[in-house]
Amino acid sequence: MNEEGFIFISGTPGTGKSTLAKLISEELNCNYIEVSDFAVKKNLVIPDETGRDTYVIKEDELKEEILKEKGKGLTILVTHYPDVFLDDDRFYLNTLFLILLRTNPKILMDRLNKKGWDEKKVKENVLAEAFNTIAEDIYDYKDIVIEIDTSNENPNNLLDIVFNKINTLDFGIRINWLLNETLIDFISSLVDDVNFNNDRISD
Ligand SMILES: Nc1ncnc2c1ncn2[C@@H]1O[C@H](COP(=O)(O)OP(=O)(O)OP(=O)(O)O)[C@@H](O)[C@H]1O
Ligand SMILES: [Mg+2]
Repeated sequence: MNEEGFIFISGTPGTGKSTLAKLISEELNCNYIEVSDFAVKKNLVIPDETGRDTYVIKEDELKEEILKEKGKGLTILVTHYPDVFLDDDRFYLNTLFLILLRTNPKILMDRLNKKGWDEKKVKENVLAEAFNTIAEDIYDYKDIVIEIDTSNENPNNLLDIVFNKINTLDFGIRINWLLNETLIDFISSLVDDVNFNNDRISD
């Protein structure tokens, strides 16, 4: 791929972004930036006032820093919030495509538990995937989205799947876990759990 510009990789935690970013950057011999890590490194985060394990990012400064960091050739940006960048033409007009990784929420739950995260954080992230959160955030950009379900894929096959979709111009966002009948009970019990826990915290 003899091009210049950005390739975004997005998806809920645990869908395999970093795994894929590493594979693509080796294949295309280009850099990749883990945007959240980069923001922390550049001191562009403000701790969230709620004292939770979250923070607010200084978006304008972050965008400037990334534009400065970008060299010639391709740059892969790994991020949970690609819309922040795509809403800015300096990024959008230089973007080749956005790879959106999806994972069946039940399978994602196993992957996140293996990361050793606490139960609440796991459930909130599984719900974010179940409710198609990032897909909704970037729906306006669906014509440049390569959506890939990593639920049952070996990471070694991912590269072939990505390039096959690019070559066949297979763009779009089609996965909607809320329409998957085998997930209805699983998702509703997660919603109940998370609501129950939030009620206890606010009491
Ligand atoms: N296609 C896949 N099939 C099965 N397991 C995978 C796949 N891709 C990644 N994994 C595994 O899932 C876990 C999460 O992968 P990875 O760290 O790449 O996700 P991520 O999207 O970068 O998460 P985060 O947002 O937390 O950085 C890892 O243990 C990884 O080995
Ligand atoms: Mg990662």
